[in-house]
Amino acid sequence: MAQEDIFKKLVAHCKEYGYVFQSSEIYDGLGAVYDYGQNGVELKNNIKKYWWDSMVLLHENVVGIDSAIFMHPTIWKASGHVDAFNDPLIDNKDSKKRYRADVLIEEQLAKYEEKMDKEVAKAQKRFGDAFDEKQFRETNPRVLANQEKWNALHQRFSDALNASDLAELKKIIEDEEIVCPISGSRNWTDVRQFNLMFSTEMGSTADGALKIYLRPETAQGIFVNYLNVQKTGRMKIPFGIAQIGKAFRNEIVARQFIFRMREFEQMEMQFFVKPGTELEWFDLWRETRIKWHRALGFGDDNYRFHVHEKLAHYANAAVDVEYKFPFGFKEVEGIHSRTDFDLSQHQKYSGKKIQYFDPELGESYVPYVVETSIGVDRMFLQVVSASYCEEEVESNGKVDTRVVMKLPPVLAPVKLAVMPLVKKDGLPEKAREIIDDLKFDFNCQYDEKDSIGKRYRRQDAIGTPFCVTVDHQTLEDQTVTIRYRDTMEQDRVAISELKNIIADQVSFKKLFAKLK
Ligand code: GAP
Repeated sequence: MAQEDIFKKLVAHCKEYGYVFQSSEIYDGLGAVYDYGQNGVELKNNIKKYWWDSMVLLHENVVGIDSAIFMHPTIWKASGHVDAFNDPLIDNKDSKKRYRADVLIEEQLAKYEEKMDKEVAKAQKRFGDAFDEKQFRETNPRVLANQEKWNALHQRFSDALNASDLAELKKIIEDEEIVCPISGSRNWTDVRQFNLMFSTEMGSTADGALKIYLRPETAQGIFVNYLNVQKTGRMKIPFGIAQIGKAFRNEIVARQFIFRMREFEQMEMQFFVKPGTELEWFDLWRETRIKWHRALGFGDDNYRFHVHEKLAHYANAAVDVEYKFPFGFKEVEGIHSRTDFDLSQHQKYSGKKIQYFDPELGESYVPYVVETSIGVDRMFLQVVSASYCEEEVESNGKVDTRVVMKLPPVLAPVKLAVMPLVKKDGLPEKAREIIDDLKFDFNCQYDEKDSIGKRYRRQDAIGTPFCVTVDHQTLEDQTVTIRYRDTMEQDRVAISELKNIIADQVSFKKLFAKLK
């Protein structure tokens, strides 16, 4: 099945099984804003726990905070967001649709790549095992022609972005004959800068209302609390401050479901280090973070690093962790060496000294910062994309399709479903008894409706790793059937063994052991 179709099915599945709903759906929705349903919120909480504990429990020099979303507006002036947190936008005059100019050009680059990949795929089919892809790419005239176009466009695009040359961005769109996907026309407006921050007012107008912003990143809440945490926690450099919280961006192009949202959640950690040591820490955090992703078992080949060639003016190194979504490799997390830019700016704008006295050096300095920043929602999308599966299975001599979310058990919203075989003879009571015993340890679900086969499929669809069936034998010998989601195999086990079997599979401790 084409990746695009799989993605469409995944989005529909997330809605059907209580993972993700369009916000304000009964009012026709609100663009790029989503709500998490009864299963989604459990998965999201488990992802957050995985991140938080791996930062705060596993590192004795990392502590957490929870800062307010509203902050003094000067913070955003100091951080550069008021003046420079912009996207270049362009409108199509016929469809009245708005686009990001840089995204239109990136899509054009992707089209050249697609053309080259198609040539390669065709040749691969033709030559079979004897095919040498490298040689083909270096010699085939059609591939070479497209590569030349790609190189020229890429160079022109980078130059225009580096120079913030909006007129040149428009010229590129015209020269490449890029059309609006809705109207099909090339009737474009000029390119303009568009600030991504949402603003609101605090206080009544009579008092003189203050224009404030909904934070576009959680990081600034950490920077402005650097001194508070360092002093009250008696923290010694190097140390980190972690935070999970909502962030808001008025994205122009909001697409691909929860990949790019206007209200989303970030898990960020700022690590404060001695100037001159930041690149060593950058390398260490980059390795620590990729291990964290890979430990979930979604396949090492599905991750890659994208090293930033063009760095923000305050950064001296930056890399993205990209995951292979059904729509291609895309950024999930950024690791940035932000120098002393943010703390120095807050020192300048607040007039307060933000420094660390290093007892070993006997001098004070503004610490340098290495940041790890990951979107909860993008991580959620990574987990569900990796887990969604359609399998052909045979039952009663018929081939059937089973939809199963092969979520890592530790992240699964519901850990086990307990099902009485029939709704009588004391079986429901026995099933409830088992749940009463296990519900303090695991998220359990009771299900007695429909045939046992249908109940298994319902649990497969939400990714429940264990189904426990209570039958008449249970009443005699205190044993149950446990069915494993991924293999569909079943075992007869004692009720008293259930806790250990499940605990072993859903243990965060076991997952953390892989991070060593
Ligand atoms: N403090 C650094 C920072 O905010 P960023 O690359 O702009 O850096 C970090 O964002 C992460 O936040 C991204 O890697 C992504 O996972 C997530 N993110 C950013 N914008 C998002 C959006 N509109 N919707 C969902 N997640 C987003």
